[in-house]
Amino acid sequence: MNSHCFLVIVIINIKTMRRFKTRIVFVLFICSIITVSMLFYFMLIFDDKKLANNIINTSRSVIVVGFSELRNENLTLCETYEKKVKLKLVQMLENEHNDDGDDDVNENYLENFVESLKSDSQRMDSSNSTALNLESKELKKIWSIAKKWVRARQIIPEKAPELSSIIEALQHSKIIKSDVSRKGTQLKLLLTLEGGQQALFKPRRYSRDYITDDIYAGADRHNGEIVAFHLSRILNQRYAPIVASRIINVAHEIKPVASPSLLATFVPQKTKLNKTLECFYGECYYCNEYELLCPDETTGTLEGAIILMLPSQYQLQKLRHPWQRTYKKNLKAQWEMDSHYCLSVLKSNSLRPRVLDFVDTAIFDYLIGNADRHHFEVFKDVSNSALLLIDNGKSFGDPSHDETTIIFPLLQCCVIRNQTYQHLRRFAFTINSSRFTLSAIIKQLLSNDQLWPLLTEHHLQALDRRLRMIMATIELCFETYQRNYVLKN
Ligand SMILES: *[C@@H]1O[C@H](CO)[C@@H](O)[C@H](O)[C@H]1NC(C)=O
Ligand SMILES: *[C@@H]1O[C@H](CO)[C@@H](O)[C@H](O)[C@H]1NC(C)=O
Ligand SMILES: *[C@@H]1O[C@H](CO)[C@@H](O)[C@H](O)[C@H]1NC(C)=O
Ligand SMILES: *[C@@H]1O[C@H](CO)[C@@H](O)[C@H](O)[C@H]1NC(C)=O
Ligand SMILES: *[C@@H]1O[C@H](CO)[C@@H](O)[C@H](O)[C@H]1NC(C)=O
Ligand SMILES: *[C@@H]1O[C@H](CO)[C@@H](O)[C@H](O)[C@H]1NC(C)=O
Repeated sequence: MNSHCFLVIVIINIKTMRRFKTRIVFVLFICSIITVSMLFYFMLIFDDKKLANNIINTSRSVIVVGFSELRNENLTLCETYEKKVKLKLVQMLENEHNDDGDDDVNENYLENFVESLKSDSQRMDSSNSTALNLESKELKKIWSIAKKWVRARQIIPEKAPELSSIIEALQHSKIIKSDVSRKGTQLKLLLTLEGGQQALFKPRRYSRDYITDDIYAGADRHNGEIVAFHLSRILNQRYAPIVASRIINVAHEIKPVASPSLLATFVPQKTKLNKTLECFYGECYYCNEYELLCPDETTGTLEGAIILMLPSQYQLQKLRHPWQRTYKKNLKAQWEMDSHYCLSVLKSNSLRPRVLDFVDTAIFDYLIGNADRHHFEVFKDVSNSALLLIDNGKSFGDPSHDETTIIFPLLQCCVIRNQTYQHLRRFAFTINSSRFTLSAIIKQLLSNDQLWPLLTEHHLQALDRRLRMIMATIELCFETYQRNYVLKN
């Protein structure tokens, strides 16, 4: 652009040698105006394309929804948010029937959407194969389909008709090797299935209604892992690895094919009936010989979640989550106290493009009650990788508690993908008896599962309640900012 200006100057110079100084000052002035306005123009264009572009607006100093009003009540930031959101929800429920959505259109859309989810994940023909006797060759084909599905922003595609075969293969294919899995802090098994596919097995540790004393304490829940996978499909956040329920006979399916390191942790126990129970403790941070995992006394089986490993060519990168907890009772993280915290995230070049992903993930985690996403994982060296929903076991703990801190990215940034918003609202205010509440859809997708009930009724209702809280949060954002500011494309 500058060379262009220079050319103009030269041409004008040649034509008019007189009043040279005034002319050049004038031309320089015009050129600088053109340069500056072009610069602005390009900045606007590029900004439009960037995610979360116009979020940094320092004149918008109070980025938190209605914080100042409640400050003098000495509430914590979290309590303040919670109070605001609950008040908003009450208001929304009072005016429930002036929603602008077209109910019939919505009903039709949901009908098709749920049918498609169902037909993909459940085998429709009632062919009855409890023990899958698939050839290794056929299994290889099934596993390779799952591998080919993986992209920067999907683990399974929107239409996934082979999903039911993959789930069935995970549930019933022969285990050809079992090993310890040293990743993570908890006892898991690394299984190799017929056809060469690797999978993780997370065994059941708790009953469905067991509640730990803290939001992030305790062991993973296999049922949470299974439901979370299906919920990720419902929410169109198809970034969770494929998970299925599996019942494994330890003596027949694990011990005979165990690696030496796994075998070394077997400590057979005698039952009252003088039967041998094949208990083991595995290898992991919390694993030790005093905390044995024992199969069911009568059946000799373990129930758990079996998780398909992602293709090995996709390396994972683990990064610190900006809304990470301190994991200390008396120490609050900065984001828990600073109502402008989102600004600091937006100022970081590496985090800014992920803000909408943090919000999507926060919504998912709030619904399942996962307060433990201290790191997020993305595909390494893959541009525009989604935040993968890996490790969803710390979920469905306390159905009567909704952990507001999980939804802080939404509360503090007040931005959300328009697509996410439009999708969520379809499920949120359908009447309780509807077939299309989250709880009803989960039931439709999973009530035939061998481990159903995977969730108690109480947990199912919590899903619907939490979704309404999310909608109230978004509504609060609309109230504070323009809709066009909150909803991003
Ligand atoms: C920043 O926010 C203020 C107040 O909401 C608004 O008036 C102004 O237009 C915004 N500026 C930009 C550049 O978005
Ligand atoms: C809030 O805390 C301050 C100082 O800790 C105290 O003086 C004030 O009385 C408290 N206000 C209320 C409403 O509790
Ligand atoms: C499946 O097979 C089992 C035993 O072979 C039988 O008891 C059961 O009724 C069958 N179920 C269906 C739906 O055909
Ligand atoms: C349990 O089995 C062992 C050997 O298998 C036998 O020696 C023992 O007497 C049995 N005990 C009872 C209570 O049946
Ligand atoms: C739906 O269920 C929730 C929670 O169970 C309850 O608070 C609400 O009043 C119900 N709404 C309707 C329309 O029945
Ligand atoms: C959001 O999406 C809806 C439906 O596709 C569209 O009508 C609306 O204009 C969009 N809003 C924004 C702010 O992009």
